[in-house]
Amino acid sequence: MSPRFRLGLIGGGRMGRTHLRALTDSALVECVAVAEPFESSARELRSMGLAVFPTVEEMLAAGGLDGVIIAAPTDQHVELATKVIEAGVSVLCEKPFGISAEDARKAAALAAERGVALQIAYWRRFIPELVALRREIAAGKLGNIQHVVCSQWDEAPPAASFRNHSGGIYIDMGVHEINQVLWLLDQDVSDVTAVAGPATEDPDAANDVDSAQALISLSEGATAIVSLGRFYPGGDVVTAEVFGSMGHSRIEVVSPESGEAPQLEALRLQAESFARHAAGAPSEGTTALEAAEVLEIAQRLTDSARIAVLAG
Ligand SMILES: NC(=O)c1ccc[n+]([C@@H]2O[C@H](COP(=O)([O-])OP(=O)(O)OC[C@H]3O[C@@H](n4cnc5c(N)ncnc54)[C@H](O)[C@@H]3O)[C@@H](O)[C@H]2O)c1
Repeated sequence: MSPRFRLGLIGGGRMGRTHLRALTDSALVECVAVAEPFESSARELRSMGLAVFPTVEEMLAAGGLDGVIIAAPTDQHVELATKVIEAGVSVLCEKPFGISAEDARKAAALAAERGVALQIAYWRRFIPELVALRREIAAGKLGNIQHVVCSQWDEAPPAASFRNHSGGIYIDMGVHEINQVLWLLDQDVSDVTAVAGPATEDPDAANDVDSAQALISLSEGATAIVSLGRFYPGGDVVTAEVFGSMGHSRIEVVSPESGEAPQLEALRLQAESFARHAAGAPSEGTTALEAAEVLEIAQRLTDSARIAVLAG
């Protein structure tokens, strides 16, 4: 058996550990090291047999990595990705790719100049049912697409300490739906209207909101509704529904019944695809330039809803 692709993880918090659970069964990819500055978290990760370093610099200096997953707070994504790219190591970075589209584009240019793979971890592109739906739409099986509804309602809000570094609800959550709509329909955005829900119930979460909606007009005439919320007691729910002149499709990507299983499978497929991309295969995931465009649209929604992006 050929050796597995060796990944380093930056940030062993909530999402970093989800990646670790997802990779336990991969025959192609393994996580061997973690950069995690928070000592009690580092201790737990060490007890799982991982080499844990307090900084990214120390993890990179130890060497032996084929690629890195970044799952640190959003407002550090681009700076951390830049460090890893400069060390010549391929990067799979969690969404969103930072908070500023301009910074995301600079990192994309650096990766291209250095010849280093840089992929953004929008895992919906690795949900088999969504991949099949995209093929059906491209083949015209649903006829002319009239409308898409994408929704993501989380079981409960994350901690205020997370939200205050997240860019706010459209940049933190909405980017998944925006990326999904653009990818499924292969159309550009022409116009947006967004309305945020009432201010958050968490007084420490600055000026974030707990729910937000958006209506997006697309370049070939279809429309999309994006529905986001932070309260769905019982478990997270993610759905995508497409209405065409010759057919329709509704996919429950995640539900309280499915739990995290569909996401874990998609994260494994994503990491394995990233490993192939780092070795020279074309990217099947989201590029940094696509992620920059998604950030720009999320910012337009934020402006349209008149909610301020939270300070990092
Ligand atoms: N793709 C998804 O569905 C999804 C879901 C949840 C979170 N995320 C993304 O993952 C990222 C992390 O979110 P989270 O919920 O895990 O946050 P978290 O706060 O639980 O974890 C972040 C971890 O990064 C560590 N960290 C902070 N600075 C660091 C640094 N400089 N180097 C190394 N580690 C550092 C923290 O100590 C913490 O353990 C966010 O960008 C978020 O948007 C993506």
